[in-house]
Amino acid sequence: MLARSDPGLPGHGYVLGMHAFGLEENGDFAAAEETGRRAVGLIPRNPWAIHAVAHVMEMQGRSGEGIAWMRDREADWAPDNLLAVHNWWHLALHHLDRCETGAVLDIYDRHVRPRPEAIGLELSDATALLWRLHLAGIDAGDRWREVADGWEPMAGDGYYAFNDMHAMMAFVAAGRDGAAGRLVATLTARAAGSGANAAMTREVGLPASLGLLAFGRGDHAAATDLLLPLTAISRRLGGSDAQRDVLSLTLLEAAQRAGRTEVARDLAARRIELKPRSRFNRLLTEKRLNLG
Ligand SMILES: [Fe+2]
Repeated sequence: MLARSDPGLPGHGYVLGMHAFGLEENGDFAAAEETGRRAVGLIPRNPWAIHAVAHVMEMQGRSGEGIAWMRDREADWAPDNLLAVHNWWHLALHHLDRCETGAVLDIYDRHVRPRPEAIGLELSDATALLWRLHLAGIDAGDRWREVADGWEPMAGDGYYAFNDMHAMMAFVAAGRDGAAGRLVATLTARAAGSGANAAMTREVGLPASLGLLAFGRGDHAAATDLLLPLTAISRRLGGSDAQRDVLSLTLLEAAQRAGRTEVARDLAARRIELKPRSRFNRLLTEKRLNLG
């Protein structure tokens, strides 16, 4: 598409925005940021391009810049847009990186908290934000109930392994054992089928969900064993690196609690290496780095 587009064509800025996100997910952060900024220069009201640059800043731990980038352009991505909740989620992640949990919960309550008509992407964002707080030991109170309520009608669908994994987080955190059991049965059936979602479910979605379930039961050794092999292949689940990072965070916590100090230390060291300025990383990893 990019090769057939032209800077003079209307909508070229949108094409560049999509390209920027592709560059970011493939780790070419400098080119992604340059392309994303160029896209926004051509078409300022360009939520996908703004989102791509927010991803770059998230991956590089540039939370202050990320907050300013999003806040300065709020009118261009927030009102009346399908991606608005997801972009609010990104803004909240930048605040979380700075351990500004008050701001995170404020954004959650105003903009991420699922509405009755919330789509899967929005429920996933809400769930993933609360789960990160959960891992950091921050009580999200009654918020889990409405997120789990949103997922419950989908527990028997099994349409998309990425969403199903997030549904499991909500069921675990809200103590919905029945829904969690129904979801495991759904995923097990889907994993035996054919097609892209069957493969995603078989290879990542089902073991990830079982790992989350084990984590919720306090069986941290089983959670570690289920989640550790996924680090190399979780990309098959779909979603972005930033979204799938929730699996890595859960594995780190599980390994720590299971006394798997080598695993925990390796994971912690890698996080600090990738984002040395992240206060959230430090909060989650400091005690692991000091192990033994
Ligand atoms: Fe994103």
